[in-house]
Amino acid sequence: MTTRRGFLLGATGALAMAGLPGGARSQSGGFPVLQARQASAQLAPSSYPKTDIWGYDGLIPGPALRVRQGGRVQRSFHNGLQQASSVHWHGIRIDNAMDGVPGLTQEAVPPGATFDYDFVAPDAGTYWYHAHNRSVEQVARGLYGALIVEEAAGPDIDREETLILDDWRLNPETAQIDPDFTSFHDLSHAGRLGNLITTNGQHDLSVGVRKNERLRLRLINAANAKIFALALSGFEGWTVALDGMPLKTPEPVSDVVLLGPGQRADLIVDVTAEDGETAYLLRAENEQVFSQAAFPVGGVAAAARRPAPDALPPNPNMQFPDLAEAERLRLNMEGGAMGRLDAAILDGNRKTFRQLADSRQFWAFNGTVGMTDTPLAEIARGRAVRLEIVNDTVFPHAMHLHGMHFREVLEDGTFGPLRDTLLTFRGERREIAFVADNPGDWLFHCHMLSHAASGMMTWLRVT
Ligand code: C2O
Ligand code: CU
Repeated sequence: MTTRRGFLLGATGALAMAGLPGGARSQSGGFPVLQARQASAQLAPSSYPKTDIWGYDGLIPGPALRVRQGGRVQRSFHNGLQQASSVHWHGIRIDNAMDGVPGLTQEAVPPGATFDYDFVAPDAGTYWYHAHNRSVEQVARGLYGALIVEEAAGPDIDREETLILDDWRLNPETAQIDPDFTSFHDLSHAGRLGNLITTNGQHDLSVGVRKNERLRLRLINAANAKIFALALSGFEGWTVALDGMPLKTPEPVSDVVLLGPGQRADLIVDVTAEDGETAYLLRAENEQVFSQAAFPVGGVAAAARRPAPDALPPNPNMQFPDLAEAERLRLNMEGGAMGRLDAAILDGNRKTFRQLADSRQFWAFNGTVGMTDTPLAEIARGRAVRLEIVNDTVFPHAMHLHGMHFREVLEDGTFGPLRDTLLTFRGERREIAFVADNPGDWLFHCHMLSHAASGMMTWLRVT
């Protein structure tokens, strides 16, 4: 039920794995080690061989890191891979030096080397960490995990489950990861979409629940490019947070919850299915519905349901930016297949679309491809920013701002919820606003990782 067409061929037997030795100890700060290394995992159904993956501590997903709000996250990252790497702590309003962006906030960590990450997590909520060097390959190979920042007083629930959604592109015979991470097609179209969908590294995740039990589901989209359209069956649910940040009022889940790459949603759900039935987190796709995760009901938690949940406690600094005072910026997104980009600046030189394609670069922001020496904008600390985003392409893009959350400025002039990643669709004109209160150099890029690798990447400087 969870595998897609084309993933139907037989198994070829188990694979012997040449893993790297584990058990690395920190050589520097004495922090607990988080090691990126090769391992294998049973991603595909058991009739298939295990898949060689790259995982933090060899796991898919990496270990769930938990910290109390206001506490420090301290990890000595050890690179046990053959490729340089770094760790980005997605959604944390972080100290810039700890943001994990090679070439912008740190040097990439070479194979065998260590980098100490040490930062405060100011906001409670659902965050995640992932590789930020050659992300189009490293995240696709499995380098991600959840970072949970706990409220001092959490909501009234029975238990919580973190569900990390991913899609993998596996060879349908060997179940090994397709190693062509920069194919022309993926770079220039919708990105690297997979053929096997997993939740927490399992294609058929099943979590036992009880009737009338109340759960918090922390949903994280770790896929390279896939947009998940999710729905509930056998649950009544409310969205209580997006991209880590609490909503002012819980919103009943009546329809589909859309989750673009990098985005998160926290749901509070009550099990309404009967003892012996199964509740589902469903995924809608091509007008069909699939099980993303199954929740068989065994037993009864309470005779009656609870009243609707309260909002989560707000995080600090959730105020609205003052639009009248805001600096105005514009981001025009162009390029890709079937787009209108004829030429753009790459490394300071004007190139035709054809020449850009020869360099495997297909996308531009404001007529410029990829990273530049100077930022898109330099903003005085504390200043409000109003940024118009025009998706002049025929593909969706998930624009992620590092270091600060923003709010969408809606058509009627009101503000949307705080987010760190905005999903935009073809032809859309959207607007976001934020207070540039976190000093440093912050990446702003598409989280469709093939797009980021082929031009959709810029940065802002807050001084
Ligand atoms: Cu989650 Cu720059 O990324
Ligand atoms: Cu994109």
